Amino acid sequence: MLKSKISRRDSLYLIGGSAALAASALNANCGKGSVPAPKPEQAEAESPEVLADRTRRMKWWHEAKFGMFIHWGLYSLIGHHEWAMEMEGIPVLQYQELAKAFKPQPNAARAWAKLAKQAGQKYMVMTTKHHEGFCNWDTKLTNYCAPKQGPGRDLVAEYVEAARAEGLRVGFYYSLMDWHHPDGARCSTEARSYRQSSEVMDWRHPNGAPRSTDEAARIRFVEYTHGLIRELLTNYGKIDVLWYDIDWPLTAGQWESKKMNEMVFKLQPDIVVNNRNGLPGDFSTPQQEIQAEKAGRAWESCMTLNDSWGYTEADDAWKSGKTIVRNLVRCANEGGNYLLNIGPKPDGSVPEQSVRILSEVGKWMDKNGPTIYESEPCKADWHTYAGYTRKGNTLYIHVHFWPARTAGTMALEYYKPPTVVAIGGLRAKVKSARLFASGEKVDFVQDDISARFTRLPQNPPDSPVTVIEVECDSEPIVDSSYVRRERPRAEVGI
Ligand code: GLC
Repeated sequence: MLKSKISRRDSLYLIGGSAALAASALNANCGKGSVPAPKPEQAEAESPEVLADRTRRMKWWHEAKFGMFIHWGLYSLIGHHEWAMEMEGIPVLQYQELAKAFKPQPNAARAWAKLAKQAGQKYMVMTTKHHEGFCNWDTKLTNYCAPKQGPGRDLVAEYVEAARAEGLRVGFYYSLMDWHHPDGARCSTEARSYRQSSEVMDWRHPNGAPRSTDEAARIRFVEYTHGLIRELLTNYGKIDVLWYDIDWPLTAGQWESKKMNEMVFKLQPDIVVNNRNGLPGDFSTPQQEIQAEKAGRAWESCMTLNDSWGYTEADDAWKSGKTIVRNLVRCANEGGNYLLNIGPKPDGSVPEQSVRILSEVGKWMDKNGPTIYESEPCKADWHTYAGYTRKGNTLYIHVHFWPARTAGTMALEYYKPPTVVAIGGLRAKVKSARLFASGEKVDFVQDDISARFTRLPQNPPDSPVTVIEVECDSEPIVDSSYVRRERPRAEVGI
């Protein structure tokens, strides 16, 4: 009987396996999350020199605020998201046939770079190798790479050239996890039992404990991995960002991540690196959510335009241009960056919906970019119809729902004239205000509880978000709890 043939171990594996699948799917899809901060024993105290060097390397990155992520590889040919190989259980020998069929248009990256520039993005991060293991560049370490397969050319070289031609900073995404390399899974013999445990929901080695490995496989695979990264950071001139991804199935120690980063900084002294090789790196990477790090720690929220990173023909869950602008404002407000993804088609062209959304964002950034770039973290909490950014003593109110009322529908004297943007709890004195895009002066009245910007036009002057620039006499802090505490109350009854 079939049933009796399934051992307890196997059934545990099956249970664990489906949980693992669920966890991976969550992660791969639009799964929110961040890589947990390393445990204290993993995080080494950093010297003032190390901190000063980070400040130097990160300066442009903090100022830039907005980047383009590009997911492009063999998975783009399937058009079912970049996790298709694992999600659909495609055998390696079948999957790798895609490598021959991959025949993108020459220099597709030029259109991406132009689009990024137009959208106001200051840097790009392209997948050089995703989990599928296919290398988009000319590597000596495997034949499973673009120049030796269908494309017949170095796609990373084309990308680098395209980004530079538009004056954009160049970033490389690199997945440590590899579903194609023969040692990519067997380097850790405990990968399977790890999946059986309840810890399976945390694919990030929750306690960092070393697992037993097939040491010979690990050495080969780590050498291969370090070798690929070495090529990427040696053969393409100055690279600005190295964006590691999933470090399954090894620990930072087993990946030799410290040595990895040392090599990276030796080859590229100005580069910035993220936190997905098991070490904290320079910045954290909340995914599909905007989740600020504690003060002093840099972060970048990466997000898709629909729900998929790789090209997914059927995914129609597109975000609006307004949502993207609001997200960008929120990241800037909390001192973070926004890395927004496109998933080009197999020929390299960008899905038209992505072009449409990014163009809308670009039009807005043309006028309002200065309220985002180089802005500083802002101690202004939420508002129902606006977001905020700040530069010194200047507050930018980003109004996304223009609070005009049709004449006659608002009875309160307080709201005459009908279009008033009001901020409760502004703890600084307003000196002047204007509409940012047109420069038109805005009238205001202020008391201890609220600042009210009055006589605004009935229709929103800008789209999808209107910015009011407010010059204050000190750092503008918006503390709505001040209103709750300090606003004089009425008598009981009216
Ligand atoms: C996750 C996904 C991966 C995607 C990445 C982007 O790690 O597994 O497919 O490239 O997120 O941040």
